[in-house]
Amino acid sequence: MSRWVDCGPIADLKFTPGAPVKIGDHWIALFRVDGNYRAIDNRCPHASAPLCDGTVFEGKVACYLHCWEFDLTTGACDVGPQWNVKAYAVREVDGRLEVEWP
Ligand code: FES
Repeated sequence: MSRWVDCGPIADLKFTPGAPVKIGDHWIALFRVDGNYRAIDNRCPHASAPLCDGTVFEGKVACYLHCWEFDLTTGACDVGPQWNVKAYAVREVDGRLEVEWP
């Protein structure tokens, strides 16, 4: 059963362009996309670069090391589905972001 996990006030999150947030021992990255927020795993499955430091375009993030692309809504990887990352629902509550955590 999933639960909503508080990621803190939006004003305190460091979007560069993604904002890394640790939930338990797991890092995710929050992104702004067209006025909404998205969350995916922060660790690139190729060679572990932080996806929060990638380049955002057209609803995707391109990893800064080797430019693999990940859809910020679904986590789908352009190289192949075996490389997909997890995507998480995000909601805004009173100026804070919450992630639906499985
Ligand atoms: S580490 Fe991300 S594409 Fe290589």
